[in-house]
Amino acid sequence: MIKKVKIEDLRPGMFIERFDCKWTQHPFIFNHKKITSFKTIDRLNNWGVTHVFINTDQGLNASESPPPKPELHLKLTQQTSPEQMRVAKEIHHIPLHHEIARAKRIREKANQAAHEIMRDVQCGKKIKTEEAYNVITEMDNSICHSKDALLLLMRVRSKDEYTFEHSVGVCALLLAFCRSLGLDDETTRLIGLGGLLHDVGKMAIPMDILNKPAALNNDEFEKVKHHVIYCREILANTHNIPHTAALIASQHHERFDGSGYPYGLVGDEISNGGQMAAIVDVFDALTSDRCYRQGIDQVEVLKKIYEWGETHFNQELSQRFIKCIGIYPVGTVVQLESGFIGVVAESTDHLLQPVVRIIHDTIRDRPVSQRDIDLSRPESSGGDRIVGYESVRRWRINPYKILGIT
Ligand SMILES: [Fe+2]
Repeated sequence: MIKKVKIEDLRPGMFIERFDCKWTQHPFIFNHKKITSFKTIDRLNNWGVTHVFINTDQGLNASESPPPKPELHLKLTQQTSPEQMRVAKEIHHIPLHHEIARAKRIREKANQAAHEIMRDVQCGKKIKTEEAYNVITEMDNSICHSKDALLLLMRVRSKDEYTFEHSVGVCALLLAFCRSLGLDDETTRLIGLGGLLHDVGKMAIPMDILNKPAALNNDEFEKVKHHVIYCREILANTHNIPHTAALIASQHHERFDGSGYPYGLVGDEISNGGQMAAIVDVFDALTSDRCYRQGIDQVEVLKKIYEWGETHFNQELSQRFIKCIGIYPVGTVVQLESGFIGVVAESTDHLLQPVVRIIHDTIRDRPVSQRDIDLSRPESSGGDRIVGYESVRRWRINPYKILGIT
């Protein structure tokens, strides 16, 4: 039997048949779910879900359920207390173009900071943690104003600057990820610092290997893998590196199923910051152009991350990351039901209904004068919707140019 129940009456053992809200308004990928622990109920609470529909043929009925736990417990990270979680900062949705100029300045500062950090490491100097922390605070503030502006700018890369720009990209993605999880200022910035420093160990790898314009052979790959050990040593010898940030740097290549390196840690042996960094590091690396290959479309990489949620990554976190970035991230080329091709120009509160800048009419097979359609607003979209994403290469366009940021 299907029954509508209040969130406070939910118990482990019940089976959620569907939610009493849209897919984008709850934290799970699927609309049905067996509740295995109070953690699931905590998450629903945090998302403001008030009711769900349970199927009593597939799970417990309200009358069969064990008594409620006296206090719902929210455990997100080994290093993050529930108190920290409660002081979450809202991400505002100010229009992207209002934030883009400031975000550009912050990106320059962040790239410069990454260069200085790497140079200091190479010269055996102390890392200026305070300066790094100041830049991270500015990045975090920008993301809290408009997540899209800084993340979009981070997509525009120079192949020669990969190590520096990757560090800043991972930092920005981690900040956005933290905010989407509702983490507080201090935790967010510590995790961001871990992101900015996560690859400092690469400065101990010979440059000809690091910048090799081709895929690495096994021997070279083994050498590159050693950067995590170097990273751990460098940060251990830097007095003012917080433990949370150091853990991220030393664990970002560990995998949830134990298949990672350097220690083959399994599951919760990896800090949650380390688990988050693993997802973000892969996303940034695979979507970036390298001197020996082109980056993969963001949507394709998100699909991979979803699949790897079964093995390499913490499944909950990989799904939450996808929700943070969006099903159709800004810069993605999409096809609309009306036949228009466009570039996702801005996210909205609705994951599947972003703002799209249309550029081409496939029915008449001709370019159109560009205009933005907000798919989340019927008066703007006229009921149009995304039916699929398109390869950037197929349309031979530069989405960032279309969005006016290059
Ligand atoms: Fe790395």
